[in-house]
Amino acid sequence: MNRVTIRVPATTANLGPGFDAFGCALSLYTDVTFEETESGLEITGCDEEFTGPDNLAYTSYCAVLNTMSEEVQGVKIHIDAHIPICRGLGSSAALLVAGAMGANILRGSKLSTQGLLNITNAMEGHPDNLAPAFYGGLTASMVDNGLPVSVSFPLHPDWEFLALVPDFNLATSLARSVLPEQINRADAIYNIAHGALVLKALELGDEKLLRSAMQDKLHQNYRKRLIPDYEKIEALVRTTGAAFCLSGAGPTLLCITQDEKLEQKLAKKLDSITEKHWQLLPLHVDFHGAHVLAAE
Ligand code: HSE
Repeated sequence: MNRVTIRVPATTANLGPGFDAFGCALSLYTDVTFEETESGLEITGCDEEFTGPDNLAYTSYCAVLNTMSEEVQGVKIHIDAHIPICRGLGSSAALLVAGAMGANILRGSKLSTQGLLNITNAMEGHPDNLAPAFYGGLTASMVDNGLPVSVSFPLHPDWEFLALVPDFNLATSLARSVLPEQINRADAIYNIAHGALVLKALELGDEKLLRSAMQDKLHQNYRKRLIPDYEKIEALVRTTGAAFCLSGAGPTLLCITQDEKLEQKLAKKLDSITEKHWQLLPLHVDFHGAHVLAAE
């Protein structure tokens, strides 16, 4: 085999209080094709600025080959990205996962998914997007002795996710730079308790419990000032009964609901409270995670 296409789902990290720990895979995908050649690097399907050797799909591809002590030869990479870039939906994690899986599969699948998660986590710094991108579904992760440990949690089948994706982006580095280095004990306790109850509410399908548990003191309050109209939109969503959080580092905002009419309800009112354009993207949970779409 010298050509493989990997499909990776979008992911929403944090889910409110689960900062750097919780993540869920969603039904929006980036497909990346890797074709080994005799020499050189060619990257197509993305903006010119992402076609160099620092492309994340290529850097993780190389990291996996290095770990396997395999020679990096030439490679053509084609990116067909449907996950919006720098919007808090795991576009970077998707490229890292695709590169890692692509390299592993082209060279005989010597590494396990845990091995690929270890390598990509060392590159990304936190496993909350990577774990659901690899495994699908809802995951919680910790890093123990430098290595990620991720487990899957059950999700009630009736949840629908509605992503509100704005027409501006927000670099994760900026969204992390506004967070305090130290937190107080009350905020830590708040997040531990709320995080545990978010997982139970998602399992039970309990919208009322999710609405109150999906609140946070570690990151959202600091980040919301980077996102125009965050508070107005949050107030609007809360009138509908849906649970609300920032998706990853933002700027996408996320509603979780069982109300099939939520999109209609928000679409009617959103334009009147914000001058930015927010695309409403109804999504389901992706339970499969990253996988091979085609191989020859
Ligand atoms: N947990 C990360 C954050 C997700 O909130 O900064 C973005 O990579």
